[in-house]
Parts: sequence; structure tokens; C-alpha cells
Amino acid sequence: MYLRNTWYVAEWGHDVERALHPVKILGEDIVLFRREDGTPQALADSCPHRKLPLSMGRLQGDHVVCGYHGMTFDGAGACVRVPGQERIPPRARVHSYPVEERWGLIWIWMGDPALADPDTIFAVEHYDDPAWGINRGAVMHWPCNYLLITDNLLDPSHVAFVHQTSFGSDDFEEDPVETRATEDAVVTARWLKDHKLAAFYKPLVRFEGLSDRLQHYEVRYPCNAIIKAVITPAGTGGDDGPLHPDVFYMDSYNFITPVDERNSRYFYFQIRNVEPHNEELSNLMNTAVLGAFTEDLIILEAVQKGIDEDPATIDIAVDAGPLRFRRRLQQLIEAEQSALARAG
Ligand code: FES
Ligand SMILES: [Fe+2]
Repeated sequence: MYLRNTWYVAEWGHDVERALHPVKILGEDIVLFRREDGTPQALADSCPHRKLPLSMGRLQGDHVVCGYHGMTFDGAGACVRVPGQERIPPRARVHSYPVEERWGLIWIWMGDPALADPDTIFAVEHYDDPAWGINRGAVMHWPCNYLLITDNLLDPSHVAFVHQTSFGSDDFEEDPVETRATEDAVVTARWLKDHKLAAFYKPLVRFEGLSDRLQHYEVRYPCNAIIKAVITPAGTGGDDGPLHPDVFYMDSYNFITPVDERNSRYFYFQIRNVEPHNEELSNLMNTAVLGAFTEDLIILEAVQKGIDEDPATIDIAVDAGPLRFRRRLQQLIEAEQSALARAG
């Protein structure tokens, strides 16, 4: 069961062209393409005649032609042609998913199209701010359930163990994490005081010596996260004070799309408040982030296997945020399902 009345990332915009591009989201096969005017479209990837994936057909203007008998569909999913007959059968249509392009990504609405509101797409601060630089990541395939990834994104404590050579250092294993819930997210956060600068941040910050560092991990329902790092010279950190002029900010956006119960796609980019036009720095960050995320991937692939073999686990203090998130998400999914059942 997934939350349906929400936007998921379907693909990087630059990966969808004037061609039929199949993706799987929430277990559903979908074909993406661009209309002649560049607008993205998404249809169920299955011809209603004999269920050939429409992505095995071809794009003709703004229409998709099935590769078996040529039934032709428009972007709204309506059949506009059945070769060899005049009459179009009333059930000859495919589902058309609302899509929107934003932040370089194509977002898809998996629920009731009437409820799709582009204003509810995840907001990205500083995206067009000329003082902030961006490094656009790739898309990664993670062979695990998406909730193992949201667990990980609400768990700053793993950084000291999994990311020793990138985001972590060995001197913050014991700092406790605070958890709070908001209307649309769970946040786990902590200020680490007087800590060694982690390797990832060394080329980015403009000061030497020890630092104070905020780890703010926020996952919004159903599975999109913003991880904020604030790094400032030791003694100048904290929620209430003006920070040092050399403070470094990095907002890391992490958009997870469930492919099915055992596979997820992971889209990401980071925005920083230093050297906005330094491409070399952006590339360096991309390489480092991909390395660190691969460290998580290796862990979660093995965790998925472990849980599949034996689902009996125990919980410890660091699980407070992840468990709170899972409970609330489950409530939202159940509420949506019962509303659907009442309507149906
Ligand atoms: S399977 Fe598509 S037209 Fe026959
Ligand atoms: Fe991680």
C-alpha cells in the first residue's frame, strides 16, 4: 500500500525526450514522453487491446501508436484510432497521470487526477538564488523498500558509522538526536558542538579548526527529504544566535520513488551558499555525495536481505524518528484507502 494522492518524482526532465520512456512507479508500469511542444505526459504502459506495453510502440506527433495493431492514444489516454474499423470501443482508453516539470524533475501524481495540485510539489528554497550553487545528482537504483530509505534519512546517528570518510567523523557517536513531528514531516536534528570537520565539508567551508554543526533531517510524507547541514566555527553554532559570517549551508534534497516493494529510485541534488558558479566544486560534491550514498545503498541492500530472511527486529533510541514517521504515514495511507472505499 502506498500513499497515492501525492507527487512522486518520475524521472529527471533531461532523461525524457521525444521518445517513449518506460518507468515503474508504485508497482505500475507507466510510459513517459514529451509532446511536440515539450510538455511531459504519462500514460499507463499497457494497451487495453492485448496489453502490449505502449512503450514498445512509437510516438507519432502527440499520439502513442501501439506496436501490435496500431491502436492510437492521445495524451489524455483517449483512443483516437483503431485501424480497420470506424468505431472506437468505449473502454479503449488508458489512464493518463497528471505530470508537472519542476526543479529539473518530472513529478507524477499517482492518485485521483482531480486532486492533483502543482502547488503541493515539494518546495525548494534558493533554487534560483544567484548566490547559491547547485550540484544535480544522478538517479540511483536502490534494491530495497522505500521505507528503509526514509528510516535512514531520519537517522543522523548512522553518519558516524556508515560515512566515516565523508559526512562523518569519529567524535559524534554519542550525541543524542531530538525528534519532532510537524504537519507534513518528521524532523530529527542535533547540534554537534566542537567537532572535527568531516572530510566532505573540508573543501567547502571557509574556516579552519573545530566546528559546530547542525544536522537537520526532515522527511515529508510519503518519502521526500531535505537534509540541512549548517557548519560554523566552534562556539558560534546553536538555534538562537546569529551565526558566524563564514557559516556554510548545504540543503540536500532527496526524492525517493518506490518502484515496487523491493526497489526504489533515488533522485537528489544539493544547494550550497558558497561559490555558486564553481563547476569543479559542484562535480567534486557530486562525486563525494554519490560515494556516500553508495555507502548507504550497500547497507540497505543488506538490511533488506536480512529482514527478508528474518523479520524479527528490535528497536533502539535512534529509531524514534523513523518509527514516528512510519506510523503517521500508515495512518495517512489508511485514511486515503477508507475514503476511496467509501467513494467506490
Ligand atoms: S495490443 Fe495494442 S493494438 Fe493490439
Ligand atoms: Fe547516509
